[in-house]
Amino acid sequence: MAQQEDVFKKLISHCKEYGFVFPSSEIYDGLGAVYDYGQNGVELKNNIKKYWWDSMVLLNENVVGIDSAIFMHPTIWKASGHVDAFNDPLIDNKDSKKRYRADVLIEELLAKYDEKIEKEIEKAAKKFGETFDETKFRGTNPRVLENQEKRDEIHNRFVKALNDGDLEELRQIIIDYEVVCPVSGTRNWTEVRQFNLMFSTEMGSTADGSMKVYLRPETAQGIFVNFLNVQKTGRMKIPFGIAQIGKAFRNEIVARQFIFRMREFEQMEMQFFVRPGEELEWFARWKEIRMKWHQALGFGKNKYRFHDHDKLAHYANAATDIEFEMPFGFKEVEGIHSRTDFDLGSHEKYSGKKIQYFDPELNKSYIPYVIETSIGVDRMFLSIMSASYCEEQLEDGESRVVLKLPPALAPVKLAVLPLVKKDGLPEKAREIIDALKFDFKCMYDEKDSIGKRYRRQDAIGTPYCVTVDHQTREDRTVTIRHRDSMAQERVSIDDLSKIIIGRVSMKNLFKES
Ligand code: GAP
Repeated sequence: MAQQEDVFKKLISHCKEYGFVFPSSEIYDGLGAVYDYGQNGVELKNNIKKYWWDSMVLLNENVVGIDSAIFMHPTIWKASGHVDAFNDPLIDNKDSKKRYRADVLIEELLAKYDEKIEKEIEKAAKKFGETFDETKFRGTNPRVLENQEKRDEIHNRFVKALNDGDLEELRQIIIDYEVVCPVSGTRNWTEVRQFNLMFSTEMGSTADGSMKVYLRPETAQGIFVNFLNVQKTGRMKIPFGIAQIGKAFRNEIVARQFIFRMREFEQMEMQFFVRPGEELEWFARWKEIRMKWHQALGFGKNKYRFHDHDKLAHYANAATDIEFEMPFGFKEVEGIHSRTDFDLGSHEKYSGKKIQYFDPELNKSYIPYVIETSIGVDRMFLSIMSASYCEEQLEDGESRVVLKLPPALAPVKLAVLPLVKKDGLPEKAREIIDALKFDFKCMYDEKDSIGKRYRRQDAIGTPYCVTVDHQTREDRTVTIRHRDSMAQERVSIDDLSKIIIGRVSMKNLFKES
């Protein structure tokens, strides 16, 4: 665990050192849980967004995109339930004055029991080797049984307390199981209180009477309130989807773990409108599609898992998360929700406008049901960075840090490096960049030894480096150096464009997904 925390710290400093992510307002000592993306970060982020957008809008005839405003009429948030129910239960430790989410403290407690059980199993598996029967061991080992029983007991109380909105019981679980504050080490807890996560501001001058508006906590409502606009103008037939990428804002109580939980972040959401009664079938279908999209990145299937929700949100009749194994454990990256007709129905009620679809095949009107896929760009960014970050010991005794990013997502696809800064090699390198820069992001670098330049490109995940040497001037050939294997191949300049395009194209990911 300590080792993983160490890797996470290294990853955070790597992100800063190589222009991926900076703390926001850094010269003023930063702003809690707000971050800026640097020159490489923005390229990676844009590539992630393109991978998502194209997989939704380009490859599905029945999915279209929109870009709605961040400010929306305040009644929208009343109708969506966010004004009344978008709360987190918070608890303070009176000694450290630190604030926590009560539900997160309990989830961490549950994870500790899981860890204890896994450790017992690992130990036994090592001891018994091939003859080890895990199911039998789980069902008979007294220590595993005892921990499992405690875990189930906490879990059952937790789920009930969440479903009943019972804040006292949440506190009681924390007291009963002696959860301590990680900072003060004490159990001196306050009551649990609800805290609304929406940011608000004023619209219009105060002289005219201003209006309280919210910064949207999800992009989804912009899609719901445009359902009729898109359906009518695009003559869309159910089933169809509307996709959107945009900023969302939440006043998170505990904003930790770098860009995992931010106060300003970006979402990629798609609402898929279906016939009532068909929603669970579509829910299962989208679960599968979305998991494949993640797995196509090639980090290994074992890095992902589904986690079905214990407590369904006020709008859902089924919900699951796709979790990714971050350096601090499996965490939610994407949510897939069957949101029923809650949102459209509620907007119909609050706006007084009919929001229905006439289904020509059924010859009747209804409020469509909705399957939502909702993924955080920043969490996706973090998952990709942590899976790609690699420290390697090389054969010559040297070491390197390499970001093994999927080539299609890498900020720079090709670095062009003249072997020396003379003999016309820089000019030749520039010529190559001028021919290729229309197809993908190239970078020129002539400073330091070729080895150092390779290391710099490894550190930002550039999949290919082209070296221009003296032979280039004679026969128009260059070497391509591969980031992961460090192997080199000699190719003609005239073939470069085709070779690199073929290897860095997003088509490669789409074929896998
Ligand atoms: N429209 C549904 C919705 O917003 P959510 O599970 O609250 O559902 C969806 O959020 C996704 O947005 C999450 O899976 C996560 O990737 C991302 N997300 C949510 N809160 C975040 C935060 N504070 N910082 C970064 N990403 C966040």
